[in-house]
Amino acid sequence: MERENRELRVSRAHCFGGEISVPGDKSISHRAVMLAALADGTSKIEGFLPSEDCLATLGAMKSLGVTVDVLDETDLGPSSLLVHGCGMVTVEPDHAIDCGNSGTTMRLLSGILAGQDFTSRLIGDDSLSKRPMNRVIKPLSGMGAAIQAEGEGGSAPLVIHGGALNGTTYELPVASAQVKSAILLAGLFAEGMTTVIQPVETRDHTERMLDLFNVRTSTDGKAISIMGGQQLQPCDFVVPGDISSAAFWLAAAAVSPGADLRIQNVGLNPTRSGILDVLERMGADINSVASSDGRGERIGEITVSGGELNGIEISGDLVANIIDELPILAVTAALASGTTVIRDAGELRVKETDRIAAVAKNLQAMGAQIEEFDDGMTIYGGRLLQGAAIDSYGDHRIAMAFAIAGLFADGETIIRDAECIAVSYPGFDRDLQLLSGEKTTA
Ligand code: S3P
Repeated sequence: MERENRELRVSRAHCFGGEISVPGDKSISHRAVMLAALADGTSKIEGFLPSEDCLATLGAMKSLGVTVDVLDETDLGPSSLLVHGCGMVTVEPDHAIDCGNSGTTMRLLSGILAGQDFTSRLIGDDSLSKRPMNRVIKPLSGMGAAIQAEGEGGSAPLVIHGGALNGTTYELPVASAQVKSAILLAGLFAEGMTTVIQPVETRDHTERMLDLFNVRTSTDGKAISIMGGQQLQPCDFVVPGDISSAAFWLAAAAVSPGADLRIQNVGLNPTRSGILDVLERMGADINSVASSDGRGERIGEITVSGGELNGIEISGDLVANIIDELPILAVTAALASGTTVIRDAGELRVKETDRIAAVAKNLQAMGAQIEEFDDGMTIYGGRLLQGAAIDSYGDHRIAMAFAIAGLFADGETIIRDAECIAVSYPGFDRDLQLLSGEKTTA
């Protein structure tokens, strides 16, 4: 996927707030497309996130013989889809499947492809080609697939020789919803029962969505089991707004005295909503009200009244829940008073970039004081931030976190390689302008 290099220029905001709905949830959009593609019949997906990552998943499922009609399109891309599922019978792709920047596409798809009776090849961009894939190769090989990593140290391209799989019981060495989901998806195609044991609870969108597509999983503490051979029945699904995208606005409002923010139609899944508890512990005045909480996903509204925030410690089991929010939380910590310590977050080093190093470098460039550890950082808050030229390292969440930092800095902040924001949040610039009242230039 070719992208042009683009800069985003941000200046201090004089006020912040308003009402907004954020685009569809990235994790849920991936899963909705994959499960609808496997189902036996046609599913309608509304609120699909037309970001580069989710479009990579859509393209991948089309390469496996699934047809998709776009029912509705916004200026950001397709938002409503009719997916004509293949009833678990995919066709051999005639080319390598390009997962772009998306770890979720590559890892979850590996689980599906492990159970297919053909060989496929998964490729990704430079960032994805450096990310650890042994974490899926090992369990899927244990189930009977033969997978070669052509990249260094167990990284992509991956060549997957799928076939008959056996159920397994696998204890995850790292907390990862992607790996859990890859194994559960492979388990659909396996003989007998597959059980995944998690070290801590991770996002449970796959389990919830399997249930909607009429596939039973059972959860016993940290163990989730699935019986092979179940058929997915089609299902109509509305993707809620992404709380990880909302996090940028929640943080900006929470740390802006006088700000009022309302975010509607946002996912409030308890395995993802830790950001609300963290901001509240920092002193934020934040409220969430769920409007639906049935089968499927919890959805609702979040309101924030801005004020002064304090530093806290963030560590332990909570970290998996807020793993994608840690870059914006680190920026928030720099704007709060007191010290914030983030620990147990070593996984940040193997995201789209090394997010601990990227956050530390960029916050230092803006005049913040920060200390880096293998598994986290200490941020000494309360210093005035200075506008600076910021490297996104091609990582969407780094680019967006530092666009927010720019709203609170003296002078201009220039985010380099800001085009990567389209990986998860197409339309971010427009929403930034809407909520900050500032003209940003891209
Ligand atoms: C995701 C899981 C998390 C998260 C990623 C999306 C998912 O990754 O960081 O953005 O959709 O399952 P890990 O499974 O690597 O923790």
